[in-house]
Amino acid sequence: MCGIVGYIGHREAYPILINGLKRLEYRGYDSAGCALIDGDQLNVYKAKGKVSDLEQEAEGKDVKGTVGIAHTRWATHGEPSATNAHPHVSMDGTLALVHNGIIENYATLRENLSKHGVTFYSETDTEILVKLIEYIKNKRQCDLLTAVRMALRQSIGAYAIALIDKNDPDVLIVARKSSPLAIGIGQNNDEFFIGSDASPIAEYTKQVTYLNDEEVAVVRRGKPLKIVNLYNEEVEANVQTINLDLGMLSKGGFPHFMLKEIFDQPEVLRDCMRGRLLPDKVVLSAVVNYKEHLLNARRFIIVSCGTSWHAGLIGKQLIESFCEIPTEVEYASEFRYNRTTVDERDVVIAVSQSGETADTLAAIEKAKEKGAFVFGIVNAVGSSIARASDTGIYIHVGPEIGVASTKAFTGQVTVFSMFALALAKAKGVVTEENYLTIIGELSCIPDKINKVLEQNDRIRSLARIFTYAHNFLYLGRGYNYPVALEGALKLKEISYIHAEGYPAAEMKHGPIALIDSEMPVVFLATHHKLHKKIMSNMMEVKSRGGRIIAVVTEGDDEVRAIADEVIEVPPTENCLVPLLSVIPLQLLAYHVAVAKGLNVDQPRNLAKSVTVE
Ligand code: G6P
Repeated sequence: MCGIVGYIGHREAYPILINGLKRLEYRGYDSAGCALIDGDQLNVYKAKGKVSDLEQEAEGKDVKGTVGIAHTRWATHGEPSATNAHPHVSMDGTLALVHNGIIENYATLRENLSKHGVTFYSETDTEILVKLIEYIKNKRQCDLLTAVRMALRQSIGAYAIALIDKNDPDVLIVARKSSPLAIGIGQNNDEFFIGSDASPIAEYTKQVTYLNDEEVAVVRRGKPLKIVNLYNEEVEANVQTINLDLGMLSKGGFPHFMLKEIFDQPEVLRDCMRGRLLPDKVVLSAVVNYKEHLLNARRFIIVSCGTSWHAGLIGKQLIESFCEIPTEVEYASEFRYNRTTVDERDVVIAVSQSGETADTLAAIEKAKEKGAFVFGIVNAVGSSIARASDTGIYIHVGPEIGVASTKAFTGQVTVFSMFALALAKAKGVVTEENYLTIIGELSCIPDKINKVLEQNDRIRSLARIFTYAHNFLYLGRGYNYPVALEGALKLKEISYIHAEGYPAAEMKHGPIALIDSEMPVVFLATHHKLHKKIMSNMMEVKSRGGRIIAVVTEGDDEVRAIADEVIEVPPTENCLVPLLSVIPLQLLAYHVAVAKGLNVDQPRNLAKSVTVE
């Protein structure tokens, strides 16, 4: 996710900004930039790549100045490049702005500004914001704070911003909505430090205030902090004393990236749905613009690898049940070589977190050669798979650093849910009632995931009991079958315990022979029309001495009476259950691996992005 750093005070800003950007590197990024005011100069440096590339870019140039802002960007609107990197600058070159978040109505704002002669150089929503502020300031002849407040009142979406003005080098303006922003206060208000979290601040001061939504702070050198809301009503700063371990901060306060990414899920799924899932409809531009291609498809073929393949299995069920379009799921590595009869009547959906997986790219090439339309569901903006696709949907869950995929999986499933709903609506095969029910439920998923995450401590204790195991079996049916596969994969990847996922009813055709008192069996047993049948499978395991861990819907006392351990998830629509039932399995795998003392974020023999065959 993007990172913001800012400084105003009596020291040279540049080293503080660079140091701060390095502290934020854990968030992942693809380009970086900074802006400093030196006398009557506003100097802006930007580079694609790492913070060290930015340092190289600025080497030997004027980096003087005691006020500045800096940014690490993870692309959302526009590919990673120096042009799209922040800060973005106003037309007259006096204002520089950095931004985290997404301005959802950027297209409308851009169009309106263009009509008034404003020109744009990048593809970003951020450039629109700084130019909107400038436009309002000039048109109304108002001060910068007023222009910022008014521009933000017109902006729909999420933002944390920091802004400097060449004409007023004693001030830095920051604001936030749905994207965190911290202000560190130096002694006697003689210096201030800005960060998208406390990690760039903690080594300079322990006095920190976090802005609330729709608050704007005027950070003036030597003056107490002034905070107002968007309507200019003054708000009191709530200053806290923080005591943070800098080592932990590099992972956002978590001991491992994987745990951080598991806990990020409620927030990033909100980002994934932002501007797409509205209270009464789903709006996906790829579905609007390519409706005919999608609706005329003879069938969909989903191609992907690993965790993305599991998300594809859920996608198939969603598309077939909502849109009534036949859908197949293939391993990209098989599809690229097999004799699948793909042609121009097919739509191939390529699913990938990294957007660089070699097998998935090769599968796309084959699909294109055969004339199929290619639809990408990708996390990394501007990646090879995104570029090779005819259109698609970004999952927007931010960079995933832990090798074992977690938030990308729930992001992919969320995108598939929105895609199936939008397409079913376009085809006219979903009732209004069902459409609105699923939309309503999907919007509640982040809060429900938070409820599952509250059980983290219990899952940690439970995991310790099972570290002895050499084998694990995961069983589920319907939407929970791919979750069983994903739970088993997570455990294998990071704990090195052999684990298999199976459709529960298939147990009797083989795996039942393995069951004894040494074999933990994880049942995905949320409420569902086949719930009773899953309970019969549990009895079969129990009578053979197997240990049962069951993931159930809240209040399921029937399963509680049979299972050794029960983890509850809130009730939801059956088609959305994977978004909840996978969470305890991610945590279980994580805690088993930690209890075994293994390297959770970089498990042996595995790579995050598999760019070779
Ligand atoms: C690797 C990763 C997995 C991932 C798979 C597919 O094996 O370790 O976590 O699921 O590649 O990657 P993709 O980036 O295409 O989703």
